[in-house]
Amino acid sequence: MSRMQGKVAIVTGAASNPGLGYSTALTLAREGAKLVVTDLDLAGAEACAAAIREAGGEALALEQDVTDEAGWKTLMAQSVDTFGKLDVLVNNAGIAVLMPLAKMTLADWNRQIEVNLTSVFLGCKYGMEAMQSNTGGSIINLSSVAGLIGMQTCVAYGAAKGGVRIMSKSVAMEGAKDNIRCNSVHPGVIWTNMQAAATGQTDPSKVTTDPSRVPLGRPGEAQDIANCILYLASDEANYVTGAEFTVDAGMTAQ
Ligand SMILES: NC(=O)c1ccc[n+]([C@@H]2O[C@H](COP(=O)([O-])OP(=O)(O)OC[C@H]3O[C@@H](n4cnc5c(N)ncnc54)[C@H](O)[C@@H]3O)[C@@H](O)[C@H]2O)c1
Repeated sequence: MSRMQGKVAIVTGAASNPGLGYSTALTLAREGAKLVVTDLDLAGAEACAAAIREAGGEALALEQDVTDEAGWKTLMAQSVDTFGKLDVLVNNAGIAVLMPLAKMTLADWNRQIEVNLTSVFLGCKYGMEAMQSNTGGSIINLSSVAGLIGMQTCVAYGAAKGGVRIMSKSVAMEGAKDNIRCNSVHPGVIWTNMQAAATGQTDPSKVTTDPSRVPLGRPGEAQDIANCILYLASDEANYVTGAEFTVDAGMTAQ
């Protein structure tokens, strides 16, 4: 209940439930962080903030399009005005533009890169600037197993997530002098609204997780990713930067 005591965190893409941002926000708040939760879907972000308050935490919900540079500046100003500082930024918001290369248009490609990669650049830039007045900070970027290995229908998604992986390491190099850490998290098959849309399923037990592909043989839960992000956000990880954390049931170990 106190691993995040005294810390202020922003989580983007926190409206979707089940979703990685939503679970992460609740988990960080449960451990004592004050939360700013953002999303394109303001009603969903407000529902996330309400759930945090119901559990006894503090939260502010804001509408944000992570591709909008001016919006990032406003978000940082509002967060610092409300809670006094910024310690943790979780760049979680994303979309999955999954299709074969032959069917992908330039507009599809550009949209995927803009939402999943350019947004993370903007978040790191303005997040690091906001953290500079602190004694340190932690930036956690959501990549994917698709940022580590080649996968069907993932030409643009994998390019964006691979970009997030290596960008995180460079951000870690630049942040080190100010004790600002930056790491990437690489989920495997995790049951969320994005996974439901990608697989066309409504029941996680119907998602195909053949042990030859997913050694633990089951989809993960959003909480599995939130637990890893909690560790990286907390002072327990104060010697961890520029690292990549797979939470994938062994998918990329083979
Ligand atoms: N679920 C998985 O299996 C899985 C695996 C690997 C990586 N990821 C990554 O984890 C992150 C979260 O995924 P999820 O499964 O929770 O997805 P989700 O679709 O359930 O939630 C994503 C949230 O991001 C928001 N969003 C989308 N575009 C936005 C924009 N331009 N500005 C602000 N908010 C925006 C959506 O409204 C939604 O609330 C994504 O970056 C995704 O690529 C997910």
